Amino acid sequence: MATDTDQDLASNQAAGGRRPLAIVTGASSGIGFELARCCARKGYDLLIAADEPEIETAAAALRGEGVEVRSVQADLSTVEGVDRLYAAIERRHVDALLANAGRGLGHGFLDQDFAEARLVVDTNITGTIYLIQKVGRDMRSRGQGRILITGSIAGFMPGSFQAVYNGTKAFLDSFSFALRNELKDSGVTVSCLMPGPTDTEFFKRADMLDTQVGQDDSKADPAEVARIGFEAMMHGEGDVVAGWKNKMQAALANVTPSSVLAEQHRKMAAPGSGDGR
Ligand SMILES: NC(=O)c1ccc[n+]([C@@H]2O[C@H](COP(=O)([O-])OP(=O)(O)OC[C@H]3O[C@@H](n4cnc5c(N)ncnc54)[C@H](OP(=O)(O)O)[C@@H]3O)[C@@H](O)[C@H]2O)c1
Repeated sequence: MATDTDQDLASNQAAGGRRPLAIVTGASSGIGFELARCCARKGYDLLIAADEPEIETAAAALRGEGVEVRSVQADLSTVEGVDRLYAAIERRHVDALLANAGRGLGHGFLDQDFAEARLVVDTNITGTIYLIQKVGRDMRSRGQGRILITGSIAGFMPGSFQAVYNGTKAFLDSFSFALRNELKDSGVTVSCLMPGPTDTEFFKRADMLDTQVGQDDSKADPAEVARIGFEAMMHGEGDVVAGWKNKMQAALANVTPSSVLAEQHRKMAAPGSGDGR
């Protein structure tokens, strides 16, 4: 029986004999790097992007998987950065878009620097949906493609002391299902990966190392989270919550009042809520 990737391969071979191509954003570290590795191991060539020069180090490591890897260093919170990544596709077809780049930001909203809060919105929402619209149009006109959006279980709960971030993930979780429905007869699938706390650079970058969630030693392994998301994308599933503990938390969030969820979030995300490490 032909697998999903076999079909991508077959269609690409008909179009010029190349491997299928996946774009992975935020692939310099964490979940995005592991998503890129999943793609490479399935035989996708890669176009990967992130904002810092480390993206080239990631590209060098991923070349070890035996596929073609190109990297773009671009600030994907900006229209120019997304345009630069899109231009780097050149004449190839994009078979899979893994829109994963994102950032968090701890502390109370009124104490946050507005430029940093805006960067969260512009990266997680504006840049993400701009890229999805550009690549999605190409996929729709070819009648084929897979889109994986990294949302979060954070989208199910008001994120006291991470309010803007959780709001962006609520947006993405919702957007993903809406776009999936709009494209249901188009040959393009849209899937949403919803991780819980995962052991990456995320909490350090969000200045949340003094919080309970930042110090939690039982965070998920990003390789496992990526594997779950990649498989959901390959099977064209609507969403996947990574891990049983997070599945339970997501189910409970549906039946818990928002005020209670906000109070629970305060306990894990308020500055100083960790044990002082
Ligand atoms: N870790 C968690 O607990 C968790 C839970 C649920 C969902 N998520 C989501 O998972 C995704 C990946 O995060 P992670 O946990 O793997 O954290 P991470 O290790 O910090 O990775 C974030 C990636 O996004 C890139 N990025 C951030 N801002 C960017 C920008 N403006 N332009 C281009 N690239 C940018 C980073 O590259 P640069 O270093 O070059 O900026 C990096 O490659 C995010 O969308 C995050 O919201 C994480």
